[in-house]
Amino acid sequence: MSNTQAKKLKNEIDFDNIPEHVAIIMDGNGRWAKKRFLPRAAGHQEGMKRVVDIVEAAEKLNIKYLSLYAFSTENWKRPKEEINGLMKLLVKYIEMELERLNKNNIKIQTMGNLSKLPKIPRQEVERAVKLTENNTKMILNIGLNYGGKNEIVRAVKNILEDIKMGNISEEDINTETFSNYLYTKGLPEPDLLIRPSGEQRLSNFMLYQMAYTEFWFSDVLWPDFKEEDLCRAIIDYQKRNRRFGGI
Ligand code: IPE
Ligand code: IPE
Ligand code: MG
Repeated sequence: MSNTQAKKLKNEIDFDNIPEHVAIIMDGNGRWAKKRFLPRAAGHQEGMKRVVDIVEAAEKLNIKYLSLYAFSTENWKRPKEEINGLMKLLVKYIEMELERLNKNNIKIQTMGNLSKLPKIPRQEVERAVKLTENNTKMILNIGLNYGGKNEIVRAVKNILEDIKMGNISEEDINTETFSNYLYTKGLPEPDLLIRPSGEQRLSNFMLYQMAYTEFWFSDVLWPDFKEEDLCRAIIDYQKRNRRFGGI
């Protein structure tokens, strides 16, 4: 913790009620850069540094699962140059952080169709996933070419295929078994969703998994997002009354 304000916030956290799974839509890099008359790429670069910080903060808070939205199925609409810059930053992040993450017992996994990624980022991601596959302290789940709608359609297709092959029957399909066809198979559903940058929408993130997730929005742009903002989100989360449809 860098400053007294952050320390003070950490004291307010109930460590017996840490959200097990936190999901973050890392948004606002472009606007951060624009405010400073910098190219959008500068915002993404600063945003990548926040990934480093926030993953470390999440480890210290004993968050078990951290899902980060890094690149959506819709982000291919962006200029080629910006997409290439984002892919390069992904490679840079892995080169910078993989050793430390592995040493700290963090497992990296992804959601989304990786086959559409350019070769080098794809290979780097696969290397990170393989190297960390047996780690147990925290799962860092990164959305890459991820879209919630696409994930659901993919699940339906795989279910149909399994029925056709005789692996399962129609009666076996329920909300539990359906979850096993999602990228997040084996992960609990997110307890807390954080979206900075002032936008209050899901943008196709974890549609199935967020049926009972608590949402927390902030106007802070992702490159300005600090450990204390994560603490604020958790403190707020701990005040909520989650009923899951009960009374
Ligand atoms: C989030 O920042 C990064 C990605 C979507 C990859 P944006 O690039 O969306 O930043 P804004 O929303 O334009 O400010
Ligand atoms: C969501 O942000 C996707 C990621 C953070 C990777 P966007 O910037 O793409 O979302 P919209 O377009 O504002 O909904
Ligand atoms: Mg955005």
